[in-house]
Amino acid sequence: MKKFYITTPVYYVNDVPHIGHTYTTVAADVLARYHRALGEETFFLTGTDEHGAKIETKAKEMKLEPKQYADQIAAAFKQAWQELNISHDNFLRTTDAAHMAAAQKALQFMYEKGDIYLGKYEGLYCRGCEQYKNERDLVNGECPDHKTAPEKISEECYNFKLSKYQDELLKLIKKDKFKILPAGRKNEIISFYEKEGLQDISFSRKNVNWGIPIPWDKSHTVYVWADAFLNYLTGLGWNGEAGQLPKFWPASVQLMSKDILRVHSTIWPAMLLSLNLPLPEIIFVHGHFQVNGQKMSKSLGNAIAPRDLIKKYGVDAARYLIMSATAFGHDGDIGWEKFDDKYNADLANGLGNLTARVANLLEINKLELKLKIGNDKKLIKAYQTEMQDFKFDEALKVLWEKLRNGDTVLSDKKPWKLKDQKEIKNILEPIAQDILNVAGLLKPFMPAISEKIIKQFSAKEIKKGEPLFPRI
Ligand code: MSP
Repeated sequence: MKKFYITTPVYYVNDVPHIGHTYTTVAADVLARYHRALGEETFFLTGTDEHGAKIETKAKEMKLEPKQYADQIAAAFKQAWQELNISHDNFLRTTDAAHMAAAQKALQFMYEKGDIYLGKYEGLYCRGCEQYKNERDLVNGECPDHKTAPEKISEECYNFKLSKYQDELLKLIKKDKFKILPAGRKNEIISFYEKEGLQDISFSRKNVNWGIPIPWDKSHTVYVWADAFLNYLTGLGWNGEAGQLPKFWPASVQLMSKDILRVHSTIWPAMLLSLNLPLPEIIFVHGHFQVNGQKMSKSLGNAIAPRDLIKKYGVDAARYLIMSATAFGHDGDIGWEKFDDKYNADLANGLGNLTARVANLLEINKLELKLKIGNDKKLIKAYQTEMQDFKFDEALKVLWEKLRNGDTVLSDKKPWKLKDQKEIKNILEPIAQDILNVAGLLKPFMPAISEKIIKQFSAKEIKKGEPLFPRI
């Protein structure tokens, strides 16, 4: 049986889930549901990244022990994904004992292999990114992502021989053996390899207590990214043994946005090579959301919480709005007004209205239909082509094209003005059939509402029912 393994990043617990995390997680869920429906054996992993200086600082601010604090936020992520009907197979916390033990075992192997050696780091560190920085990464002395000046650190550390893997990785990336999508992102990374190249990187922190102890020197903790990357393996039950392939590895698709592409296409694959493990097949970088033209931030107070979306639109509509907001792989601007407009146009007046009108006409004319789901091969093909290319918004457009066609036929033929039952049936039946087929293909995006429509339109006597999307 074909296998499909999809991951989201493990999210930092310095903040509660917002629409950015939600975007990646819903997209991963759509892909997982789509591949399950194709009959593939699917594993979907998400989770939380809980160690490091950033979380340690945040917990202190909150006057909590780091673990206590992490427990609260991890619970908030779990709750959010449950509310959004996310179908992950595992939720990995990097503070799970099994993950920590496996990470130690893996690092010990890399140390004994000679890929990790004692050194010193003197330079800059951005706590927001949890990354070592060069002067050239900064804009006006600040990290462009966090708008803060990085701290200067000088400490003994254990370095990872990242430079050793430069040539091998560059070759693999160029040959698409480790495929970075969309293509523009791949080119960015190639140019990074060619212009700046890989330098050895500190894999331990002497002055950060909140982390996994380095097994051979407990006065250091593991650099949080080295710890976090391994989640993609430990989330499958991997125990840290080099060369040992867990059932679903390598990942079919690893999703993220551009902020963490660089580390995912340098440090992460190098760790895998060091551990004698194959690289993920695809890294897919989706777009970054801005809210009304501005970066989402706490200080601006413009972050959109998944719960607010659900409250306003319902679960499935929230999922639809997120997935159709922008072309997948391209940055997008979102906001409440845009969501309202799209909700009314596509859902209340679109899918909801057409479904209600057709069901109503079938009911009052007491027409009996025998519809069959999944019998439009052309529609399925057009939809699948877009789905295989990660063009979710295009796949949805294919379905909405069908719905719009149904609307046009209704307005042209005005079956409510006709008397002849057979004539009415001839108009309504193909539209009802299209609605049923569209609902079948909508399942990965709107699992509950599509089931409702399928149930409604598979019955012998179709009834109008409650409105699916009350107008806002
Ligand atoms: N903990 C690291 C990842 C470690 S993975 C081994 C991290 N966490 S994070 O909480 O900052 O999550 C970043 C990810 O959240 C992005 O890569 C993206 O998937 C998602 N998003 C966060 N904000 C986003 C937007 N504004 N827009 C779209 N997605 C964004 O980085």
